Amino acid sequence: MLVKSVIEYAFLIPPCNLFGVLTLRKISSRSSRIKPSPHRRLVAKVDELLKSGRVVYNYSAGQPGLPPDENLIKDFYERLVKNPFNHFRYVSTKGLYELREAIKEDLRKYGGFDVDPENVVVTSGGVEGMNLSLITTTDPGDEVVLLDPTYSVYWDLAEFYGLRVRRCRQVLGNGFQPEEECLKNAVSKNTAAVIVVSPDNPTSRVLRDDLMRLIADLCVDNDVWFIYDEAYKHVVYDEEHVWIQRYSRTMEKLISINSFSKDIAIPGFRLGYTYAPKEVVAEIVKIKGLLSITSPVPGQWFAYYALTSGVKEKYLSKVLPIYRSRRDALYDAIREHLPEARVWRPPASMYLFPDMTPYIERLGMNDIDFTYQLADRKAVVMLPGSIFGDYGNNHLRITFVTQPEEKLKRGVEMVSEFLEELEKH
Ligand SMILES: Cc1ncc(COP(=O)(O)O)c(C=O)c1O
Repeated sequence: MLVKSVIEYAFLIPPCNLFGVLTLRKISSRSSRIKPSPHRRLVAKVDELLKSGRVVYNYSAGQPGLPPDENLIKDFYERLVKNPFNHFRYVSTKGLYELREAIKEDLRKYGGFDVDPENVVVTSGGVEGMNLSLITTTDPGDEVVLLDPTYSVYWDLAEFYGLRVRRCRQVLGNGFQPEEECLKNAVSKNTAAVIVVSPDNPTSRVLRDDLMRLIADLCVDNDVWFIYDEAYKHVVYDEEHVWIQRYSRTMEKLISINSFSKDIAIPGFRLGYTYAPKEVVAEIVKIKGLLSITSPVPGQWFAYYALTSGVKEKYLSKVLPIYRSRRDALYDAIREHLPEARVWRPPASMYLFPDMTPYIERLGMNDIDFTYQLADRKAVVMLPGSIFGDYGNNHLRITFVTQPEEKLKRGVEMVSEFLEELEKH
């Protein structure tokens, strides 16, 4: 009896071994080859610092700077209470029809082109759209073209889905625009998809119209998917978002990724949308049905009310001037307190991306250690540029939209003090 229970204990009830020590079952190589990201570690650091009672200067998140419209929230609450069933039920995997109609109207209004609501899928954030697009259009071993640096999640997704990456650099000296020759060489019949983020994260540049057309042409000519991440399409100050959809050759190969996290400021509702040619949409719906059935329905209604009540325009016209002056304050502070950094005043998005090479090299550090130590010693949290690609190495990604101007200036002063302290030792 005793022998039997020892055997059961040792072998039949994993994950405990003979000594009652927890052991792990096998973890897939697909999962374990993705390294924990320094980004997540820094996000956890923010919580740790806050718990310990320190004043934290957090410039790491792509959060909107102001909450959603207050009247809209009140109105939404009343509607929820009045008709809970309608707001909390399942809806079709493609998403609430009313919202997809509203998206169509919104794209017509801002972009001046038509998308059939049947080609729109409401997703759980832009990030689900990114995943679904790659799942449905690529196979392991396929080649994708990324601009370097780019949104860090794309590097991890390429690794996760077993994709080979060809990259075109985009560097500060060139206004963070990729080189035409590189694009022409990189895109071929062997390419599965080209991924473009514009306005960009982390560089905040808007990709030039002629380069966008070149990419659209290359994609159509080589039968390649053009994945256009437009999460920041409304967060533009000095230039205009490039609605490449108006260019007649684009739509045939275009998969557009969108987010409601930035423009109507609901990142926690996890909502976005993707539109694409119908054969891709059919596949996306099939796979999304397996992953999440549908995106959060209360959020879909919230987005519908925001798009159809004029609140989106109102919110954007309130926040964009604030973001712009925050951008300028951060830019000026960097010029003043970090004179050896190379920095650019971007036309859009939420981030400054200064090149800190002289400082970081002098300290004999890499940018990841630099940001960890900065967080530990000064409770100033910024992201290391290398997580966005090789060409982001030794840069810092600093969010300018979330903090008032004085706090942005103070954060940069603290980076400068941190450098002085390190250089003295
Ligand atoms: C370029 C880009 N795409 C997509 C996303 C994903 O946004 P969400 O999943 O919150 O809609 C982000 C988030 O910061 C982003 O920066």
